[in-house]
Amino acid sequence: MIKSYKNKKMALIRNLGRLITTVSFSRGNKFSYLNNFSKRFTSTSQPLQDAKEVKVTFVRASGERIEAKGKVGDSLLDIVVNNEIDLDGYGACEGTLTCSTCHLIFPKEVYDSLPEQPTDEELDMLDLAYDLCDTSRLGCQVIMTKELDGLEVRVPTTINDARA
Ligand code: FES
Repeated sequence: MIKSYKNKKMALIRNLGRLITTVSFSRGNKFSYLNNFSKRFTSTSQPLQDAKEVKVTFVRASGERIEAKGKVGDSLLDIVVNNEIDLDGYGACEGTLTCSTCHLIFPKEVYDSLPEQPTDEELDMLDLAYDLCDTSRLGCQVIMTKELDGLEVRVPTTINDARA
């Protein structure tokens, strides 16, 4: 019960941070203090510029492997975006938990070891994803840790934008 509350609270803080970042990007420097607020509450204890580099491999249904780099504290959505990986429609809601296009499938042992369990909101959105598996997660909700360095995740064959 406490863990579930904590997970919900962390997801809320992350999403609030992303929302504020989006507003600050769209309005320019005028709201840069909001962006700093967002970074402070969405980062890990390490400053982002000092965060350890991590590698992630995205495996398409065709078997094509796409290797990408990110940092501890990045979400998998951040890594897809920052590496400009061409996954059609991926991350359509920019991490606001309203689309399910960031669906990824994890190896069972990795899924079981993820530090944060999915919140009820993530599970509700996953229910709308295609090719759902027992080890499915939303990439915008999974944050890289140093233990996840070298992660390999499968990209489902099709995506569903729940907003459509
Ligand atoms: S990016 Fe939309 S739910 Fe993850």
